[in-house]
Amino acid sequence: MTRYATIIGTGSFLPENTLTNKDLEGMVDTSDEWIVLRTGIRERRLSDEHQGTSELAIRAGERAMACAGLAPEDIDLLIVGTSSPDHILFPSTACLTQTALGLKCPAYDINAACSSFIYALQTGTTAIESGRHDTVLVIGADALTKHVDFADRATCVLFGDGAGAVVLRAAEQPGVMAVELGADGTGADLLKVPAGGSAAPCTEERIRNREHYLQMNGNEVYKFAVRMIPKATIHALEATGNDVSDLAWLIPHQANKRILDTIAERLGLPNERIYSNVENTGNISAGSIPLALDDLYTSGRLRPGDLIALVGFGAGLTWGAATIRWTMTVPDKGDQ
Ligand code: ACO
Repeated sequence: MTRYATIIGTGSFLPENTLTNKDLEGMVDTSDEWIVLRTGIRERRLSDEHQGTSELAIRAGERAMACAGLAPEDIDLLIVGTSSPDHILFPSTACLTQTALGLKCPAYDINAACSSFIYALQTGTTAIESGRHDTVLVIGADALTKHVDFADRATCVLFGDGAGAVVLRAAEQPGVMAVELGADGTGADLLKVPAGGSAAPCTEERIRNREHYLQMNGNEVYKFAVRMIPKATIHALEATGNDVSDLAWLIPHQANKRILDTIAERLGLPNERIYSNVENTGNISAGSIPLALDDLYTSGRLRPGDLIALVGFGAGLTWGAATIRWTMTVPDKGDQ
């Protein structure tokens, strides 16, 4: 019998500290009006100085496990999608998350920048379809504000911290119907952290030049996003014999409201079928898609049988889209 992966639990977590556009006005030469007009973002959450990405991943993961009604021994694989690990080399964020959640299973990180969750979802899905694993916890978590230059107004207004998670389980029906991934390293320079890795270890001079912070060519990344997101979405839908008109929801990576409005127009999808919470989260990178999914599910807007598509893009360049037949029942009020 063919094995499929289906989502049986969702969870998410945002740290407490809020940074509003007004707060940013006091830090760099910007305005609430500029940020809202160009990005749609009004506020974002910041992790504490000592709160690593694993802490966000742990909270989202435990909520997804509780939602699925599972105990630690039920999970047989943990994958954490992140590009802002607690430690630059090791231990992996997944290992820190695994032990805090009381799991005994294999655990590893996947880094495809803001597409990390979709990449991790594909790996988890394949692990189940192959018969090697039965129940996989897939988490997307990032604390990019730790790597953002709060003196650079072009980037510091965009990012926030947060995490989301799903539990995948083997099933006779999909579930996750298709996951299509892509990468194009010719765009590697468009969004990068130049120093701190093996190619350019941190030196005093590099730190003085602020090379250990995230740098981005915003215009080029914008063009890439509005070109690639519709393409990737259509590709993942076509792989399942569906098209845009079959979608109940498109859940894109939440980077910029203007990007979401443009892709809605290009796909011919009404705005009310594209989920957006970027206004209150900013771009939380790998956490963005699973957090949006959890928001939609817990607010009762996903129904069994709904066809949904998740689509992400990010540094690398990377992108990925998934087509999913939703199987979870609407939560009772008070469940979450
Ligand atoms: N406040 C005020 N003015 C600003 C700010 C700011 N925060 N930032 C830039 N400006 C200025 C610029 O200096 C420029 O001024 P000038 O005309 O005097 O030179 C002007 O505003 C216009 O700048 P642009 O960069 O052309 O502004 P644009 O409309 O392109 O918006 C933005 C910039 C929001 C960054 C947009 O390009 C964008 O969203 N790009 C995509 C970014 C993205 O999605 N990144 C995430 C990728 S996922 C991952 O892997 C992490």
